[in-house]
Amino acid sequence: MIGKMPTLKIGKLTSEIPIIQGGMGVGISLSGLASAVANEGGIGVIAAVGLGMFRTNLQGNMSEKNSKALRQEIKTARSKTDGLIGVNIMMALSDSDSLFEVSVEEKVDVILMGAGLPLKLPSRIVDQGLDNIHTNFIPIVSSGRATKIIFQHWAKKYRHIPDAVVVEGPLAGGHLGFKAAELYTESNSLESLLPEVLASVSPFEIQFGKKIPVIVAGGVYSGADVYRFIRLGADGVQMATRFVATHECDADIRFKEMYINCQKDDLRIIESPVGMPGRAINNDFLESVSAGNKKPFKCPWKCLRTCNYTEVPYCIAKALIFARKGKFGGGFAFAGANAYKVKEIISVKELVKTLMREYKHEDLTMKAPSDPEISVSFRPDLAAVIENKTNPDPVAVL
Ligand SMILES: Cc1cc2nc3c(=O)[nH]c(=O)nc-3n(C[C@H](O)[C@H](O)[C@H](O)COP(=O)(O)O)c2cc1C
Repeated sequence: MIGKMPTLKIGKLTSEIPIIQGGMGVGISLSGLASAVANEGGIGVIAAVGLGMFRTNLQGNMSEKNSKALRQEIKTARSKTDGLIGVNIMMALSDSDSLFEVSVEEKVDVILMGAGLPLKLPSRIVDQGLDNIHTNFIPIVSSGRATKIIFQHWAKKYRHIPDAVVVEGPLAGGHLGFKAAELYTESNSLESLLPEVLASVSPFEIQFGKKIPVIVAGGVYSGADVYRFIRLGADGVQMATRFVATHECDADIRFKEMYINCQKDDLRIIESPVGMPGRAINNDFLESVSAGNKKPFKCPWKCLRTCNYTEVPYCIAKALIFARKGKFGGGFAFAGANAYKVKEIISVKELVKTLMREYKHEDLTMKAPSDPEISVSFRPDLAAVIENKTNPDPVAVL
């Protein structure tokens, strides 16, 4: 229908609007934001990182606390919505396996796997048979090459492929999957990465006889952006920055105000202690780190496999927890390149309505029914190809 956003189908699930709210750690997207997005027909995502670090009422070691806190967040989200709920798990986390297990036990609809290649799944999950699990698995990638590596590996090892893929470009917030010097090259633009990833999943779609939705992330800000990427062949979008300045976002009001008050020049690339670049809003804390000052800390536990905690100038987990509480003397806010466009705090309902209105406007102005070039979808219809599939061996594609 003209002007209406398409649905997003992932495995057996259907999201009424093609929008996944990007997971935001530490503690920025929890049950509050995730359930609000799910109630508007999108996929709401809880960021699993470090939840036990700011929940003081839990028993056990840090990994046990993280798992308990995640279980609680999922249950709370479920109590507020019948919509689709996901969990974002960073592969670089030391306790990623137990977070996977909790998410699958709680039957979340999707797990988004970021910050590292998801090549090894916990054996307790694999042993259940990936086809028998309610949860859909979605890697977050930054290139067609990474997509191919993951799909080849899963096909060979698990005889199963991920259910969708998010391709995250260099305009995203948080940690970025590119070298800092290569962030703004033409070949790394989201518009260039999307066809690369579509090409990488295509042989696996044919071989496994299922469509693999490709979802774009990083700098998608307006309904017009959603329209543009869907016209370019994406099945959906993942958006994070735009969801921060909502009443339901789980961060302190001062975190949201950082977004509203920031200017384009305040958005900067940092070298995160994790060893990856990240995009954040500049502040005194980051200036001080850039000037060579160390922020002494005791590592409560090695939360990230890749963190060299004896060498790094500050603890990223602590800095992000300070920030979520609005205490910017000890931390900073991650944000996407479009954060400076955010001008007010609104409800998730209003935001989704705005996106739908912008999408409709774009569709009505761009689409001339007599223009065959734009009335034909960019992405070929797979159904026919899959119908005619002759090779029954999924590994033969490798
Ligand atoms: C405050 C913030 C925290 C984030 N934390 C995570 C995270 O914990 N794990 C992850 O995979 N991505 C994280 N991201 C990336 C988002 O999930 C998302 O893919 C990206 O920001 C999309 O770009 P956009 O912000 O321009 O919409 C974070 C982004 C922001 C803005």
